Amino acid sequence: MIKIAPSILSADFANLGNDIAMLNRSEADFIHLDIMDGLFVPNISFGFPVIKSVSKLAEKPMDAHLMIMDPSRYINQVRDCGAAYMTVHQEACTHLHRTVQQIHSAGMKAGVALNPATPVLLLEDIISDLDLILIMSVNPGFGGQSFIPNTLKKIRQLREMLDKAGSKAVIQVDGGVNLETGRQLSEAGADILVAGNFVFSSPNPEQTIAALRGL
Ligand code: DX5
Ligand code: ZN
Repeated sequence: MIKIAPSILSADFANLGNDIAMLNRSEADFIHLDIMDGLFVPNISFGFPVIKSVSKLAEKPMDAHLMIMDPSRYINQVRDCGAAYMTVHQEACTHLHRTVQQIHSAGMKAGVALNPATPVLLLEDIISDLDLILIMSVNPGFGGQSFIPNTLKKIRQLREMLDKAGSKAVIQVDGGVNLETGRQLSEAGADILVAGNFVFSSPNPEQTIAALRGL
């Protein structure tokens, strides 16, 4: 069954408590946190004080998606916020293997994200060390963008690589997810769908999460 990780990037930041309460009531499997530094991506979202406040209310595991340069600098702070998963970008790490080891040593599950232009083959030598691989289906930085169809090919290719390596890592996809792209992604082999705009701009976000989960 496909799992859903609503991204609070599209939540109402002036009423964040209400949106977290809604996610707690919903069938969401994770709460997805998009952390941006204005350098790796051309946008700044929110940082640790906000995440700490969210963590006090969140009853679902939090997965932190770090869209920042050299994310190894912040591993302990992400851990101290209570994140279950810490996902870093392949493109933002000089020593990716070391960063993954450090995330594990800090007691979190480790994820690696790939931008749309980064081939999945680049993960071949590290795939057995990962708990999660995040395939970006939009260029990171903003919610509400359109899904890039080439993602489906990448998911199928990654699924084959994981099977071949005997890896239990899960495939997460992020960007432009709705009922139509979500169905295609689920068929291609995705395990977790991140959804921001589609959930939070819908008239009934709880129902939308349930509909995505039913794909
Ligand atoms: C994009 C973020 C996403 C974003 C997805 O940089 O990583 O998590 O919130 O938003 P939607 O679902 O609106 O494309
Ligand atoms: Zn994200």
